[in-house]
Amino acid sequence: MAALPVNVLITGANRGLGLEMVKQMVEAPCPVRKLFACCRDPHGPRAEALQTLAKKHPGIISIIRLDASDLCSIKDSAQLVGSLVGTGGLNLLINNAGILAKGTLQDTTPEDMQSSFNTNVIGPMNMIKEFLPHLRAAVQANGKPGMSCNKAAVINISSIMGSLDLVKPTYVHFPAMAYRISKASDNPLTL
Ligand SMILES: NC(=O)c1ccc[n+]([C@@H]2O[C@H](COP(=O)([O-])OP(=O)(O)OC[C@H]3O[C@@H](n4cnc5c(N)ncnc54)[C@H](OP(=O)(O)O)[C@@H]3O)[C@@H](O)[C@H]2O)c1
Repeated sequence: MAALPVNVLITGANRGLGLEMVKQMVEAPCPVRKLFACCRDPHGPRAEALQTLAKKHPGIISIIRLDASDLCSIKDSAQLVGSLVGTGGLNLLINNAGILAKGTLQDTTPEDMQSSFNTNVIGPMNMIKEFLPHLRAAVQANGKPGMSCNKAAVINISSIMGSLDLVKPTYVHFPAMAYRISKASDNPLTL
Protein backbone atom coordinates (compact mmCIF):
# COMPACT_ATOMS: atom_id res chain seq x y z
CA MET A 1 0.00 0.00 0.00
CA ALA A 2 1.34 3.49 -0.86
CA ALA A 3 2.43 5.64 2.08
CA LEU A 4 0.85 9.03 2.74
CA PRO A 5 3.58 11.45 1.65
CA VAL A 6 3.90 13.03 5.08
CA ASN A 7 6.51 12.99 7.86
CA VAL A 8 5.13 13.18 11.39
CA LEU A 9 6.66 13.75 14.84
CA ILE A 10 4.91 12.91 18.12
CA THR A 11 6.23 13.76 21.59
CA GLY A 12 5.49 11.50 24.56
CA ALA A 13 5.08 8.60 22.11
CA ASN A 14 6.05 5.74 24.43
CA ARG A 15 2.71 5.30 26.21
CA GLY A 16 -0.85 6.56 26.53
CA LEU A 17 -2.38 8.60 23.72
CA GLY A 18 1.01 9.17 22.07
CA LEU A 19 1.69 5.46 21.65
CA GLU A 20 -1.85 4.91 20.36
CA MET A 21 -1.41 7.65 17.74
CA VAL A 22 1.84 6.02 16.59
CA LYS A 23 0.06 2.65 16.30
CA GLN A 24 -2.85 4.04 14.32
CA MET A 25 -0.65 6.05 11.96
CA VAL A 26 1.60 3.11 11.05
CA GLU A 27 -1.11 0.45 10.97
CA ALA A 28 -3.52 2.50 8.84
CA PRO A 29 -4.19 1.18 5.32
CA CYS A 30 -2.25 4.18 4.05
CA PRO A 31 0.54 4.72 6.64
CA VAL A 32 2.60 7.88 7.00
CA ARG A 33 6.02 8.04 5.31
CA LYS A 34 8.22 8.65 8.36
CA LEU A 35 7.13 8.79 11.98
CA PHE A 36 9.47 10.22 14.59
CA ALA A 37 8.28 8.77 17.88
CA CYS A 38 9.89 10.83 20.64
CA CYS A 39 10.28 9.85 24.26
CA ARG A 40 12.48 10.64 27.26
CA ASP A 41 14.00 7.20 27.71
CA PRO A 42 13.95 5.14 24.49
CA HIS A 43 15.75 2.18 26.09
CA GLY A 44 13.91 2.17 29.42
CA PRO A 45 11.07 -0.15 30.49
CA ARG A 46 8.40 2.47 29.68
CA ALA A 47 9.42 2.41 26.00
CA GLU A 48 9.21 -1.37 25.53
CA ALA A 49 5.86 -1.30 23.69
CA LEU A 50 7.14 1.45 21.39
CA GLN A 51 10.35 -0.48 20.70
CA THR A 52 8.30 -3.56 19.78
CA LEU A 53 6.14 -1.49 17.42
CA ALA A 54 9.23 0.13 15.86
CA LYS A 55 10.71 -3.31 15.13
CA LYS A 56 7.51 -4.20 13.24
CA HIS A 57 7.75 -1.01 11.14
CA PRO A 58 11.47 -0.32 10.77
CA GLY A 59 11.13 1.72 7.58
CA ILE A 60 8.63 4.09 9.14
CA ILE A 61 9.22 4.55 12.88
CA SER A 62 12.38 6.19 14.23
CA ILE A 63 12.55 6.49 18.00
CA ILE A 64 14.13 9.78 19.04
CA ARG A 65 15.24 10.75 22.54
CA LEU A 66 13.46 13.99 23.53
CA ASP A 67 12.70 15.60 26.89
CA ALA A 68 10.10 18.29 26.20
CA SER A 69 11.10 20.22 29.33
CA ASP A 70 14.75 20.52 28.24
CA LEU A 71 15.65 23.01 25.51
CA CYS A 72 19.00 21.32 24.76
CA SER A 73 17.23 18.01 24.21
CA ILE A 74 14.70 19.71 21.88
CA LYS A 75 17.51 21.36 19.90
CA ASP A 76 19.40 18.05 19.57
CA SER A 77 16.29 16.23 18.34
CA ALA A 78 15.44 19.04 15.89
CA GLN A 79 18.92 18.75 14.42
CA LEU A 80 18.65 14.96 14.11
CA VAL A 81 15.17 15.05 12.58
CA GLY A 82 16.31 17.78 10.16
CA SER A 83 19.12 15.52 8.95
CA LEU A 84 16.66 12.64 8.46
CA VAL A 85 13.91 14.52 6.59
CA GLY A 86 16.20 16.78 4.53
CA THR A 87 14.47 19.12 2.09
CA GLY A 88 11.21 17.13 2.39
CA GLY A 89 10.75 18.67 5.84
CA LEU A 90 8.34 17.78 8.62
CA ASN A 91 4.63 17.90 7.80
CA LEU A 92 3.09 17.40 11.21
CA LEU A 93 4.34 18.15 14.72
CA ILE A 94 2.13 16.76 17.50
CA ASN A 95 2.92 18.21 20.92
CA ASN A 96 1.42 15.42 23.00
CA ALA A 97 3.84 15.03 25.96
CA GLY A 98 2.24 16.31 29.13
CA ILE A 99 2.16 15.93 32.88
CA LEU A 100 -0.87 15.99 35.14
CA ALA A 101 -0.51 17.46 38.65
CA LYS A 102 -3.78 16.67 40.43
CA GLY A 103 -3.83 18.91 43.54
CA THR A 104 -6.37 21.51 44.66
CA LEU A 105 -5.40 25.18 44.86
CA GLN A 106 -4.34 24.64 48.49
CA ASP A 107 -2.23 21.57 47.63
CA THR A 108 -0.55 23.09 44.61
CA THR A 109 3.05 24.17 45.15
CA PRO A 110 5.16 26.59 43.10
CA GLU A 111 7.16 23.49 42.04
CA ASP A 112 3.96 21.86 40.66
CA MET A 113 3.25 25.02 38.69
CA GLN A 114 6.84 25.25 37.48
CA SER A 115 7.04 21.64 36.28
CA SER A 116 3.57 21.82 34.68
CA PHE A 117 4.59 24.96 32.79
CA ASN A 118 7.97 23.53 31.79
CA THR A 119 6.43 20.46 30.16
CA ASN A 120 2.94 21.59 29.10
CA VAL A 121 3.58 25.17 27.97
CA ILE A 122 7.27 26.03 27.53
CA GLY A 123 7.90 22.59 26.01
CA PRO A 124 5.40 22.98 23.14
CA MET A 125 6.53 26.58 22.59
CA ASN A 126 10.18 25.52 22.26
CA MET A 127 9.20 22.58 20.04
CA ILE A 128 7.40 24.89 17.61
CA LYS A 129 10.31 27.35 17.54
CA GLU A 130 13.01 24.72 17.03
CA PHE A 131 11.11 22.62 14.46
CA LEU A 132 9.79 25.61 12.48
CA PRO A 133 12.56 25.39 9.82
CA HIS A 134 11.59 21.77 9.11
CA LEU A 135 7.87 22.65 8.97
CA ARG A 136 8.68 25.49 6.57
CA ALA A 137 10.79 23.10 4.48
CA ALA A 138 7.73 20.84 4.08
CA VAL A 139 5.64 23.78 2.86
CA GLN A 140 8.34 24.70 0.35
CA ALA A 141 8.71 21.08 -0.80
CA ASN A 142 4.97 20.90 -1.50
CA GLY A 143 5.16 23.99 -3.67
CA LYS A 144 1.43 24.15 -4.41
CA PRO A 145 -0.85 27.14 -3.60
CA GLY A 146 -3.48 27.03 -0.85
CA MET A 147 -3.77 25.07 2.37
CA SER A 148 -3.18 21.31 2.37
CA CYS A 149 -2.57 18.49 4.84
CA ASN A 150 0.43 17.66 2.65
CA LYS A 151 2.05 20.95 3.75
CA ALA A 152 2.68 21.52 7.46
CA ALA A 153 0.78 21.81 10.73
CA VAL A 154 1.23 21.79 14.49
CA ILE A 155 -1.22 20.04 16.81
CA ASN A 156 -0.99 20.92 20.50
CA ILE A 157 -2.92 18.40 22.61
CA SER A 158 -4.97 20.51 24.96
CA SER A 159 -7.60 19.37 27.46
CA ILE A 160 -11.14 20.24 28.41
CA MET A 161 -9.55 20.98 31.81
CA GLY A 162 -8.03 24.08 30.17
CA SER A 163 -11.50 25.50 29.50
CA LEU A 164 -12.25 28.58 31.62
CA ASP A 165 -16.00 27.91 31.31
CA LEU A 166 -15.66 24.49 32.90
CA VAL A 167 -13.62 25.36 36.00
CA LYS A 168 -16.73 25.78 38.20
CA PRO A 169 -18.61 22.62 37.22
CA THR A 170 -15.56 20.31 37.23
CA TYR A 171 -13.19 21.64 39.91
CA VAL A 172 -14.90 19.81 42.79
CA HIS A 173 -14.49 16.39 41.13
CA PHE A 174 -11.11 16.98 39.51
CA PRO A 175 -9.22 20.00 40.85
CA ALA A 176 -5.80 19.55 39.10
CA MET A 177 -5.11 23.28 39.44
CA ALA A 178 -1.59 23.34 37.96
CA TYR A 179 -2.69 21.14 35.04
CA ARG A 180 -5.73 23.33 34.28
CA ILE A 181 -3.73 26.53 34.30
CA SER A 182 -1.00 25.05 32.12
CA LYS A 183 -3.49 23.70 29.55
CA ALA A 184 -5.35 27.02 29.46
CA SER A 185 -2.00 28.74 28.81
CA ASP A 186 -1.14 26.26 26.07
CA ASN A 187 -4.27 27.12 24.04
CA PRO A 188 -3.11 30.51 22.66
CA LEU A 189 0.00 28.78 21.24
CA THR A 190 -2.32 27.17 18.71
CA LEU A 191 -2.99 29.95 16.20
N1 LIG B 1 -5.88 10.87 28.65
C1 LIG B 1 -6.82 11.81 28.58
O1 LIG B 1 -8.00 11.56 28.90
C2 LIG B 1 -6.49 13.20 28.11
C3 LIG B 1 -7.51 14.14 27.99
C4 LIG B 1 -7.21 15.41 27.53
C5 LIG B 1 -5.90 15.75 27.20
N2 LIG B 1 -4.93 14.84 27.36
C6 LIG B 1 -3.57 15.24 27.00
O2 LIG B 1 -3.05 14.29 26.08
C7 LIG B 1 -1.65 14.15 26.26
C8 LIG B 1 -1.31 12.69 26.53
O3 LIG B 1 -2.05 12.26 27.65
P1 LIG B 1 -1.98 10.75 28.17
O4 LIG B 1 -3.24 10.48 28.87
O5 LIG B 1 -1.56 9.85 27.06
O6 LIG B 1 -0.84 10.88 29.27
P2 LIG B 1 0.12 9.76 29.89
O7 LIG B 1 -0.40 8.39 29.64
O8 LIG B 1 0.42 10.20 31.28
O9 LIG B 1 1.46 9.93 28.98
C9 LIG B 1 2.16 11.12 29.04
C10 LIG B 1 3.28 11.04 28.04
O10 LIG B 1 4.01 12.27 28.11
C11 LIG B 1 5.37 11.95 28.34
N3 LIG B 1 6.06 13.02 29.02
C12 LIG B 1 5.81 13.59 30.21
N4 LIG B 1 6.70 14.54 30.48
C13 LIG B 1 7.55 14.57 29.42
C14 LIG B 1 8.70 15.33 29.08
N5 LIG B 1 9.18 16.27 29.90
N6 LIG B 1 9.31 15.09 27.90
C15 LIG B 1 8.84 14.14 27.06
N7 LIG B 1 7.79 13.37 27.32
C16 LIG B 1 7.16 13.59 28.49
C17 LIG B 1 5.35 10.66 29.14
O11 LIG B 1 6.63 10.05 29.07
P3 LIG B 1 7.26 9.18 30.30
O12 LIG B 1 6.83 7.77 30.08
O13 LIG B 1 8.73 9.39 30.14
O14 LIG B 1 6.72 9.76 31.59
C18 LIG B 1 4.27 9.92 28.38
O15 LIG B 1 4.78 9.39 27.18
C19 LIG B 1 -1.26 15.07 27.42
O16 LIG B 1 -0.81 16.32 26.90
C20 LIG B 1 -2.57 15.25 28.16
O17 LIG B 1 -2.62 16.44 28.88
C21 LIG B 1 -5.18 13.58 27.81
